[in-house]
Amino acid sequence: MSHSAYVLFAATLMTGAALARCQRSTTAVSTTAAPVAVAAGDTSAARGAQLVLLGGCDDCHTPQLPNGEPDMSRRFSGVPAGSAAPPSIANVVATENLAFSGPWGTSFPRNITPDVQHGIGSWNVQDFIRTMRTGTDPQGHALLPPMPYKEFGKLPDADLTAIYNFIRTVAPSSNAVTGP
Ligand code: HEC
Repeated sequence: MSHSAYVLFAATLMTGAALARCQRSTTAVSTTAAPVAVAAGDTSAARGAQLVLLGGCDDCHTPQLPNGEPDMSRRFSGVPAGSAAPPSIANVVATENLAFSGPWGTSFPRNITPDVQHGIGSWNVQDFIRTMRTGTDPQGHALLPPMPYKEFGKLPDADLTAIYNFIRTVAPSSNAVTGP
């Protein structure tokens, strides 16, 4: 089979799969409820799980497997202990092992699991909401970029509560993030 014939073949298969997906989802929308019903004011962990996906929390707070996928067995455990920040390059934001270097210096996405000593297990929901709104955590640390607290802080209390409720459900991790 020539290369171009192979590409055409693959494209045909993908079109078929895409069509099948469209047909399935059309059926699902018309006959059944969405997988998780979301209503304004829903503070459930299930709602929080959806917001966490949208917020990309895993992109910064969950270590990656060698294939680049988030390692869910270490979900939200932050920069692995002992990782170095990437080198500082003028006018560039660089990232390595989840750590960042940028014009502000270096920053290390934290362990946000419910571990009391190494994560945010001692925070109550008000601590979490206040941190997202003000950018200052209960220890008095002002959050460095690129933690998007200015965006997350615009969410209503119910959404922030849902995020808090969801992140309380992951396994506590004793990973000690040694960031600035
Ligand atoms: C683009 C990267 C990025 C994304 C996306 C991100 N964070 Fe962060 N987060 C950080 C960094 C970096 C820090 C540490 C900042 C510092 O040390 O000053 C941080 C810190 C935090 C802290 C403070 C922890 C502490 O001990 O003070 C919390 C809580 C937090 N993030 C929650 C979340 C949640 C929840 C989401 C998703 C809704 C999220 N973050 C998405 C980068 C990110």
